[in-house]
Amino acid sequence: EKGGWPSFMAKEVAEEPDAVANTIRGRVRDGAVVIPELDGSDDLFRGVDRIIITACGTASYAGMVGKYALEQWARVPVDVELAHEFRYRDPVIGENTLVVSISQSGETMDTLMAVKYARERGARTLSICNTQGATIPRESDAVVYTHAGPEVAVASTKAFVAQITALLLLGLHAGRVRGTLSAADGAAAVAELDALPAKIAEVLAEEQAHVTQLAGWMADTRSVLFLGRHVGYPIALEGALKLKEISYIHAEGFAAGELKHGPIALIEPGQPVFVLVPSPRHSALLHAKVVSNIQEIRARGARVIVIAEEGDAAVLPFADEVIRIPLAGALFEPLLAVVPLQIFAMALATAKGLDVDQPRNLAKSVTVE
Ligand code: F6R
Repeated sequence: EKGGWPSFMAKEVAEEPDAVANTIRGRVRDGAVVIPELDGSDDLFRGVDRIIITACGTASYAGMVGKYALEQWARVPVDVELAHEFRYRDPVIGENTLVVSISQSGETMDTLMAVKYARERGARTLSICNTQGATIPRESDAVVYTHAGPEVAVASTKAFVAQITALLLLGLHAGRVRGTLSAADGAAAVAELDALPAKIAEVLAEEQAHVTQLAGWMADTRSVLFLGRHVGYPIALEGALKLKEISYIHAEGFAAGELKHGPIALIEPGQPVFVLVPSPRHSALLHAKVVSNIQEIRARGARVIVIAEEGDAAVLPFADEVIRIPLAGALFEPLLAVVPLQIFAMALATAKGLDVDQPRNLAKSVTVE
């Protein structure tokens, strides 16, 4: 079943270009995103004054990226809530709240209970799910399926990129329905979406060997930090989670701006830190802030591994290693930047002789609360 791959995880990472392409397929009409499953469901988005995205683990990090897309294109305030935290307080939700749940399996009990709770409170519910006919979509008013295909490895990879893709599609669909997205912006985003599969394939082709070698050198590392800003922040969290899950290495992701509020105290000579560098083409200011964060940690001896777009030379004087990704729109970069982090976690676990598909203490689907 692994089709010649050393692990399901390796196979599933290699399938990411297809997971993204299959999730987009059939959802673009005349240069605009139209999700057929949401035909006749325009009322889900009209009159909505708040969106809450709820999920667990990796799916919640996809949700954090989705927040940026939905706010930008559909102009609705979005909060991301861990599903297991949502129910144990008294959230302000009602008929004008749309609760978007995200689950690869569609069976995660924490997420299911959050969806049921939202419905009882009168909220509208939409789920993003990878498993046809699973419980969470059945309990929701509407569903947008990701088409990543079955994911076997415990650590989620291709489902994560498909979840982000579905959230981008949802943001574009909702923006069109709500009249907050111009046709020109919608068409530009569709062009970005269409280009993604080939760009992910390019990251795999160009960086797999480099990142694998890097992980081999770092097999004895005891702690790795990940920094990002904007949509790079959830990707930093995801990079850290992948490493914890399958390599059993202590890892933490931070919003880079938080450094000086505490985490910079962790930096000592030799500490490996991955930094996700946003494109200077999107925001020179954001880019400059991240470069200055890199200088701060470098000055304290950190071993800096940057993930930056092709041609960004500003990072070169301060980086020990540079991993390159192709140019993409701001909200599309996470789909490229996460790939080297997934490869890194997989290669490091492999270098330590661990079973990357079956990490200790974890199950693929968490059906208890
Ligand atoms: C991480 C991972 C978990 C899941 C989480 C939610 O690699 O696999 O964090 O993302 O348990 O699972 P689903 O998406 O099935 O609800």
